[in-house]
Amino acid sequence: MPLINTKFMFKKAYVEHYAIGAFNVCNMETVQGIALACKETQSPVIFQVSPGAQKYAGIKYLANLVKIAVDETGIEAALHIDHGNSFELCKMCIENGFTSVMIDGSSLPFYENIELTKKVVEYAKRKNVSVEGELGRLQGIEDHVECPYEHSLFTDPDQVKEFVQKTGVDSLAIAIGTSHGLNKFGPNTVPDLKFDILEKIEKILPDFPIVLHGASSVNQETVNKLLKFGVKVGNAKGVPEEMLCRAAKMSVCKINIDSDLRLATTLAIKKFMAENPEKFDPRGYFGAARSAICDLVKAKILNVLGSFKKFEPISID
Ligand code: G3H
Ligand code: 13P
Ligand code: ZN
Repeated sequence: MPLINTKFMFKKAYVEHYAIGAFNVCNMETVQGIALACKETQSPVIFQVSPGAQKYAGIKYLANLVKIAVDETGIEAALHIDHGNSFELCKMCIENGFTSVMIDGSSLPFYENIELTKKVVEYAKRKNVSVEGELGRLQGIEDHVECPYEHSLFTDPDQVKEFVQKTGVDSLAIAIGTSHGLNKFGPNTVPDLKFDILEKIEKILPDFPIVLHGASSVNQETVNKLLKFGVKVGNAKGVPEEMLCRAAKMSVCKINIDSDLRLATTLAIKKFMAENPEKFDPRGYFGAARSAICDLVKAKILNVLGSFKKFEPISID
């Protein structure tokens, strides 16, 4: 099964009220764990690479790992650059077989964001690659996504139509209260997403796929176990799963998850090492991480995204 762009996936997800998981990948075990989970649940998926992961592993390594995983499992998948920060990076990804790109101009003034996004769309359309744009700013700090809490900005519904019409994007990431990383919503804050903004956008842009970034749920049991292993993840708080389920039934067709994969990976490795002090073969703990990733992705598909049994698997002999 070749990698596909996201248009068909989103169309079906929109009509059938589920969302596609977009999982960040940085190595072979992550790619394999995700692919196996999607094969077992017959779920379409988006493998995404951040600029940080691209620097870590290299675009060719990651693109080829994903292509091999998709060939081996027969799953329905897209390969996407997450938070693409320049036209040049998007172009390089497209040249390396990516079927979808995000150009993140959300920190730019509105018309500069339009100009940059439009340039990427014009190039990508010629290559049959879909483009995600972003309006509004999420809080949170990561390698390439940096926005302190006080600078976060909900998406203004009055801007979305002009943005989509002028750029020609295929999907739009919006800010309604999610954030990147482990400390969403700030200390002592009750998790809250602005569903009123999402509803307004849904009315202004009917049939148009919306993307939610910063959508890890940060499982508290996992956090507590990590704390016991001495990993400093105190006060971590994520987006409650029921809020994501609600969004997935609305116009949200893509839900981005990275931090939950990181937590599951770290816990699996810590646990394996604590329980097997005599073992030093990396295949032991990397294998444990791969299984944990597979379990996590399956749980997301079944309990949150609703994307199970949404394609006919290609049989691989
Ligand atoms: O939203 C961004 C992702 O979580 C990627 O994070 O830049 O640390 O790879 P990263
Ligand atoms: P989390 O940090 O909530 O996993 O968000 C990931 C993300 O938005 C990747 O683009
Ligand atoms: Zn993001």
